Amino acid sequence: MKIIYPGSFDPLTEGHMDIIKRLSKMFDEVIVAILYNENKNSLFSVDERKGIIEEAIKEENLPNISIHSFDGLLVNFAKSIDVKLVARGLRGVTDYEYEKNIARVNSTLYEGLETIFLLSNPSYSFVSSSGVREIAAFKGDVSAFVSPSVEKKIKEKFNY
Ligand code: PNS
Repeated sequence: MKIIYPGSFDPLTEGHMDIIKRLSKMFDEVIVAILYNENKNSLFSVDERKGIIEEAIKEENLPNISIHSFDGLLVNFAKSIDVKLVARGLRGVTDYEYEKNIARVNSTLYEGLETIFLLSNPSYSFVSSSGVREIAAFKGDVSAFVSPSVEKKIKEKFNY
């Protein structure tokens, strides 16, 4: 069974990696799907985000992960690869309130599409890509939130 793990991954955090590792044990293939959104001011380009995820996957020796990018609606991407299962991580009630609406919209747009939720590891329940971007913009220490290879990319980007 295949599952899509969608997100912006700008950049990949230890919280994302925890979910990817757990999904890789449960499913035959985990399709990490990076949202490409031209309107959104992103820190890393889609290619850079893809490279960062590829490196992290290699470091963890995860054999059953593929990395895609998509633009527009998630349901259209899901249809294009014929997968009706999506995973999202939940850090707390705020995520839940937001995610339940998206899950319902998605299953309305694509009948039979299921979203499953994994509770985030408590160690990462306060970690977010936006937080990492903010710390990085001020040349702060991001090592508690991202892997060493992601930290390296961040430091290159912000010259520190
Ligand atoms: O990492 P993020 O930014 O929390 O991921 C959000 C994502 C990419 C899963 C979500 O925004 C998404 O699926 N966007 C694609 C557009 C879409 O399908 N919207 C319909 C639901 S309202």
